[in-house]
Amino acid sequence: MVYILLTALFLILATFFFTKLLKSNLNLGLYNSRREPTLPPVEKAWPLVGAIYMLIKDPLNLIKKNYQKHGSVFTIKVLGQNVTMLIGPEVSSHFYTAPESELSLAVLLDKLVVSMFGQNVAYGGPAEIRRQQFQFLKKGLSPQKLRYYVGQTLEEAQDYLSKWQDCGTVDLMHELQCLITLTCARCMFGYNVRENLSEDVSSLICELGGGLSPISILWPNFPIPAHYRRDRAKAKLNDIFSNIINSRKSSLWSEEDLLQTLIESVYTDGKYNTNEQVVGIATAILFASKHSAGMTAVWTAAYLLQSKAYFSKVLEEQKELLHRHGSKIDFDILGEMDVLHRCIKEAIRLGSTAIITARYCRKAFTVTTKEGKEYMVPKGHIVATPPTIANRLDYVYKDPERYDPDRYLSIEEKEMASRPFSNVSFGGGRHLCPGEAFAYINLKTIWSYLLRNFELELASSFPEGKWNGKEKLLVRYKRRKLSI
Ligand code: HEM
Repeated sequence: MVYILLTALFLILATFFFTKLLKSNLNLGLYNSRREPTLPPVEKAWPLVGAIYMLIKDPLNLIKKNYQKHGSVFTIKVLGQNVTMLIGPEVSSHFYTAPESELSLAVLLDKLVVSMFGQNVAYGGPAEIRRQQFQFLKKGLSPQKLRYYVGQTLEEAQDYLSKWQDCGTVDLMHELQCLITLTCARCMFGYNVRENLSEDVSSLICELGGGLSPISILWPNFPIPAHYRRDRAKAKLNDIFSNIINSRKSSLWSEEDLLQTLIESVYTDGKYNTNEQVVGIATAILFASKHSAGMTAVWTAAYLLQSKAYFSKVLEEQKELLHRHGSKIDFDILGEMDVLHRCIKEAIRLGSTAIITARYCRKAFTVTTKEGKEYMVPKGHIVATPPTIANRLDYVYKDPERYDPDRYLSIEEKEMASRPFSNVSFGGGRHLCPGEAFAYINLKTIWSYLLRNFELELASSFPEGKWNGKEKLLVRYKRRKLSI
């Protein structure tokens, strides 16, 4: 009996060690059979509930902690769904370049887009309609149109800022978000904006954006107050924009704005955009502009006003341009504002408005980290990358947390930061933001006008850490003409 037991024990141990040996040989490549793909490390979390609490409360902190613990590739579980994070240029190339059939944005966004902008608008409709709508948008943001938008933006900014007293204190968070909404709306809806839009639209767009949290990406109709507010705002915006579209259609004049482009554009099957589509696309564009360019303008203010050195550099540049061109601001003159451009670029790098960009994985793929580890990301995972963290990696940027617009002048950093997917403020690859050039002309026009006409000084502390758009940025101002 003892003999039988000993033999059995020996056989079990022998099998165990043989399997171990075989596995290690396979890993060393001593056998020719295929290696088992390694899955990304999974962050332990409560079953079912997973990381949902942290994801809602502080998504960036959750991602940062896991990046420090696991490195550039890891999976977190959110209500049973695997979300695999890819952080850094080495592991995000496929994320940005894969076709829709492999990594799909539409699968993730369709319900969310419908909930915010209606049916058959961008990701809320079939791929072919979306492709053509992006072409219409491209036409509406062509260099020729951008030239026209500079003048529109300037007029709107002058008008808005004329309401400021000669001196005082303002909350630039509120002021710039309203101003950006109005200038973008003016470029999109032309003169009709005056009759129909008020600062109210800015808060409605804010409410619409309240329904854009990580939880909304996963469950756009989850019964939370933010989603109810979003639906109310959507209905109100729909009324406002429908009035504008109807009055434009019934009038005899035509404009050079984006609205006109959307009304006149024809799909390949000969159809025009319906009123609902024009409203949806216009709201989406206004939302993208307000949400991203608005916050970027505020971050630029915070960083510039805090950094005395860069603030004087942008003033010097404006003086020099005043000397050469007088008070004129146009598309070509904006092109000469290199210092201001760098200051905005650096504010966008640090204050990136896209917390997480995500896709649904339809086909498994592998990534190799910079340390040479290979991971397989399985079909069915949500794959995500957070630009705010990816833009602050210390092996890409020297002293990455520092606001240093001149870093783009250093050959070494310029070379590093211009490598694919090293600066993903505007995304990259297939879904690269089509509004980048528009955002820059909008921001540069507004900022050059502010710098030329006001003395500005930070009156509240610099917003360290996260900033969700509700805090104030108090600034003391005094009206004056910048002298040469
Ligand atoms: C500073 C301002 C802006 C920033 C930082 C920004 C950032 C981004 C980012 C990171 C993406 C990629 C999202 C992804 O990969 O999933 C994106 C996409 C997009 N952006 Fe922007 N954006 C800005 C302004 C604008 C403006 C002004 C417009 C419109 C006029 C716009 C329209 C879009 C559209 C339509 C897409 C989707 C492109 C696609 O899926 O192919 N953005 N933006």
